[in-house]
Amino acid sequence: MPVDSRFLELCRRRYSVKRFSSRPVERQKLRLCLEAARLAPSAENAQPWRFVVFDDPDEKDAVANAVFRGVYSHTRPLARAPVLVALLLKQSIVVNQLGGKVQGTPFQVVDAGIAGEHFVLAATEQGLGTCWIGWFDSRALLRHLKLSRRAFRAVCLIAVGYPAGDLKPRERNRRPLEDIVCWNRPPETPP
Ligand SMILES: Cc1cc2nc3c(=O)[nH]c(=O)nc-3n(C[C@H](O)[C@H](O)[C@H](O)COP(=O)(O)O)c2cc1C
Repeated sequence: MPVDSRFLELCRRRYSVKRFSSRPVERQKLRLCLEAARLAPSAENAQPWRFVVFDDPDEKDAVANAVFRGVYSHTRPLARAPVLVALLLKQSIVVNQLGGKVQGTPFQVVDAGIAGEHFVLAATEQGLGTCWIGWFDSRALLRHLKLSRRAFRAVCLIAVGYPAGDLKPRERNRRPLEDIVCWNRPPETPP
């Protein structure tokens, strides 16, 4: 069994960074992460993801003001990251939506998750910190972008920046493989 690889090392290095340095993020690095996302697989190769990158401080603050209000305000500190990336889904791709309905799996959301994690791992490799943000006002984001909810879904935001200098990676808190993998048998049903 392979116990280590460069890819595993990269996976270990990634963690959710919640405090960022004010150092701006180079566009070149962001483009590399976006290219990694572009190469992600998707159901029917529909590529339903759209990334909106906010690296202009005023534009980013305007988004943060819109989406981290009320019940969402406790996620607001993540908007101190120099970059916020909005991960959107273009909803009008009929094949993908139908497939999801028939199969019962929202493939577009799966697609977005894969592309987003490509982005995140590429960012880790570039020395950048990231944090997925699911707790934000997704409707407010679409309103802010003047996009209709019929055409787009706002899946997540990703905070991106250099980790604050004194930050130590948190302990990995993961179930052991034995808990999550079954070889040739179904998982046990919880009592
Ligand atoms: C889809 C998704 C949504 C998340 N939303 C938030 C969030 O709104 N706020 C937050 O602080 N962390 C959020 N996280 C980060 C998780 O809490 C974190 O990934 C998890 O605790 C494991 O920690 P690690 O990323 O450091 O390994 C989110 C992660 C994912 C994958």
